[in-house]
Amino acid sequence: MADDFKEVMARFPTGVAIATTCDEDGDPHGLTVSSFCSVSLEPPLVLICVAKSAKCFPVFARTGEFAVSMLRERHVELALRFANSKARKFGDGGFVRTSRGGVVVDNALATVECKVDRRHDAGDHVILVGEVVDQLLSDAGGPAVYFNRKFAALSSAQ
Ligand SMILES: Cc1cc2nc3c(=O)[nH]c(=O)nc-3n(C[C@H](O)[C@H](O)[C@H](O)COP(=O)(O)O)c2cc1C
Repeated sequence: MADDFKEVMARFPTGVAIATTCDEDGDPHGLTVSSFCSVSLEPPLVLICVAKSAKCFPVFARTGEFAVSMLRERHVELALRFANSKARKFGDGGFVRTSRGGVVVDNALATVECKVDRRHDAGDHVILVGEVVDQLLSDAGGPAVYFNRKFAALSSAQ
């Protein structure tokens, strides 16, 4: 069932994003997510789903704020790094601190910064609903796309 379910969901193309948050010392944590979507316009709400098994889960489970950086097609290496629990995720640059103290991908397609509105327990994940309190729109360009367990480009979007 689980393998069939994965196979079924792999047929659904998604964008790719990096969700980040900071711990009590201000140190950043993050992971690659495809479970990012908008929920409400008024108020502006988005959600991400974070696996309870993720190393960064405890920080997301207690944080009051998180950010989501929407990745460009050239960000595949970054997406792979943030999908690897053993990687030195923030070691190689490419991130900027925001005025709110969050950490986001430098020159991502767009970023949102959120206050946690609600948490929902959902099987082996927790759904984090965030109210968007800041947003940044960078230069247009093609997004990173994930389909059938592979990264793809959507060149017609440029
Ligand atoms: C394209 C892609 C999308 C992903 N989406 C999610 C997601 O929405 N939620 C999640 O918990 N893990 C997702 N993952 C897996 C995590 O990024 C990965 O397990 C990560 O290493 C977990 O965080 P950790 O490094 O702190 O353990 C995704 C991985 C990839 C490659």
